[in-house]
Amino acid sequence: MTLLVHLGDIDENEWADAFRAKMPNLRIVTSSDAFDPKEIKYLYVWKPREDVFDGLENLEAIFSLGAGVDPILKHPYLPTDVPITRFVDETLTQCMSDYVIANVSMHHRELTHYRNDQRKHLWTQYYPAPATDITVGIMGLGQLGLDAAQKLALLGYKVNGWSRSEKHIDSVTCFSGAEAFDAFLSQTDILVNLLPLTADTRDILCRQTFEKLRREVMPHGPVVVNAARGGHQNEDDIVACLRDGTLGAASLDVFKTEPLPKESPLWDLDACYITPHIAAISSFEGGVNLVAQQVESFERDGTLKYVVDPARGY
Ligand code: NDP
Ligand code: OXD
Repeated sequence: MTLLVHLGDIDENEWADAFRAKMPNLRIVTSSDAFDPKEIKYLYVWKPREDVFDGLENLEAIFSLGAGVDPILKHPYLPTDVPITRFVDETLTQCMSDYVIANVSMHHRELTHYRNDQRKHLWTQYYPAPATDITVGIMGLGQLGLDAAQKLALLGYKVNGWSRSEKHIDSVTCFSGAEAFDAFLSQTDILVNLLPLTADTRDILCRQTFEKLRREVMPHGPVVVNAARGGHQNEDDIVACLRDGTLGAASLDVFKTEPLPKESPLWDLDACYITPHIAAISSFEGGVNLVAQQVESFERDGTLKYVVDPARGY
């Protein structure tokens, strides 16, 4: 019974050592070790290479290092009968909410405007509206979106949430399904994306979406914050919408191509805030503990937590 650690450009040995310390009875190998593919029962994976599944005839579970499983689901040789679990962890959730709150507050308090005045040595008093006048719309009310929504509501923001299935959440006005998307957008001043990347959500952050946001409340136009996947955003549209005022500002943590190419115009737009996919990281300790729990539970009675539905795409 062996766990294969296959993590693309991430240090596999560091993870393998931590798994060995936590699960001394499980054999752990990395993708650069010599091993018989038939001995692999579990796979711990992030950004799988094309050959990852070669010969893994006895694979019984795939554990994703990431919360988003889009890199796994799009693999051309993904076995269809092996369950995939995703990463869920309190620290990851906390870090994502930290990112969302920091960016929403920054835009709400008009820091771009004051920074520009500062550069010109201008002392112009202008008072941002209270949080209670601003509506933040969160796309995705799962592990991450729900926490961010609840924390923003505690800070006084009005919060709208949009999900696939219908929800009832205290202090959050919930919209669900494609048919409610326009109503959700028309009541949103700061749009936050925490959706998984699926066929339905690809390129959802585009001009058509931005034009439906409410324009009356944020003085420089509505704002978009994307901390989910680069595949959600049309970057040409974001550039054009920031230039023509359809959007007042943007905070982007993820990009179609990562690292963001040096020549992207996004780097140089004043109202665009770029971070290098650091909104929330899967903690080492959280990852090891979750895999240990999953293995223990699977060995005991064949059950796993946080199992992905490949048909839904998340
Ligand atoms: P979850 O699976 O817990 O939640 C997904 C949410 O999106 C659910 O509320 C779901 O609705 C909703 N949703 C899915 N498809 C649609 C749709 N077509 N229309 C409307 N709503 C939809 O995911 P997490 O919250 O754990 O993570 C979200 C994403 O965040 C990840 O997939 C990943 O890409 C990204 N991420 C980014 C990180 C970073 O550092 N930048 C770090 C970690 C994650 P329903 O509840 O009805 O199922
Ligand atoms: C994730 C990520 O999906 O870090 O966990 O992007």
